[in-house]
Amino acid sequence: MSTATEPTAAATPGSREPLVAMADVGKSYGNVHALRGVSLEVYPGEVTCVLGDNGAGKSTLIKIMAGLHEHSEGAFCVNGISRNLASPRAAQQLGIATVYQDLALAPLMSVWRNFFMGNEIRRGLFLDSATMRRIADEELQKMGIHIGDLDRPVGGLSGGQKQCIAIARAIYFGAKVIILDEPTAALGVRQSGVVLKYIAKARDAGLGVVFITHNPHHAYLVGNHFVVLKLGRVVLDAHRDEITLDELTAEMAGGQELAELQHELRDVDPDATVAPDHPETAPAAPARSTDERRP
Ligand SMILES: Nc1ncnc2c1ncn2[C@@H]1O[C@H](COP(=O)(O)OP(=O)(O)OP(=O)(O)O)[C@@H](O)[C@H]1O
Ligand SMILES: [Mg+2]
Repeated sequence: MSTATEPTAAATPGSREPLVAMADVGKSYGNVHALRGVSLEVYPGEVTCVLGDNGAGKSTLIKIMAGLHEHSEGAFCVNGISRNLASPRAAQQLGIATVYQDLALAPLMSVWRNFFMGNEIRRGLFLDSATMRRIADEELQKMGIHIGDLDRPVGGLSGGQKQCIAIARAIYFGAKVIILDEPTAALGVRQSGVVLKYIAKARDAGLGVVFITHNPHHAYLVGNHFVVLKLGRVVLDAHRDEITLDELTAEMAGGQELAELQHELRDVDPDATVAPDHPETAPAAPARSTDERRP
């Protein structure tokens, strides 16, 4: 939650002042250059999608924003003020919340206890469970999240519902920027849809959303701005009106590299098959359909 003393990232929907701005940011781990010359701005009321293959530097980028790692080069500003965040708490105090894939939810604890974990309301020495249960219920309802019994342990909920609780919790506790690290990676189509809906709700509430994903289709469903990283560098930075889903998908599939590969493989006929020299090593006959196998 933000404190009164720190100027938090101000969320004025539609404002053109970035909440978070990175300019030429670099990060090295010993000899490994995980990020080089990365510039990125996060605006309120926008979903900024960060895409890239494994090892592209996505997690490193969000760890800098989340206060887990300090950058080695360049400038990182929150609300126009240059920062070198020393801890996740420092990031939270500036209104930057991160929802990691493993979520930091306690599976055996109830929904409302998880909602207030680390920010419990007390009455004297005791937890004010009635108030916490009521607020958790109101906040989840406000986001259109229907869990039913809030005394249920979180471990029994679906992956999508857990993500939604983490998003609602971050918003309630004053986040202005919410970073989601691959929130749909482990989910099926329907559950991903639910999470994408809450990403759009967080954006509509005026937050700056940073959505990390491998999936250009998910990114394009909710994204206003797309940044593709490759080997630690930004290879594409485009607003929604500057790129189509097909172009984004092609960029993620390898872009120029794929075009070069296609050129190199121009003599290869994918329809061709080679007769086996040894019948015993020949591939098995194609499987018959279930209908054919019926007597
Ligand atoms: N703590 C670390 N120490 C050394 N090298 C690291 C460390 N963290 C990341 N790296 C390296 O930095 C590069 C970027 O890694 P990063 O985890 O940021 O990529 P990513 O885009 O999140 O990948 P993935 O999609 O696999 O999660 C990789 O080469 C990785 O091996
Ligand atoms: Mg990662």
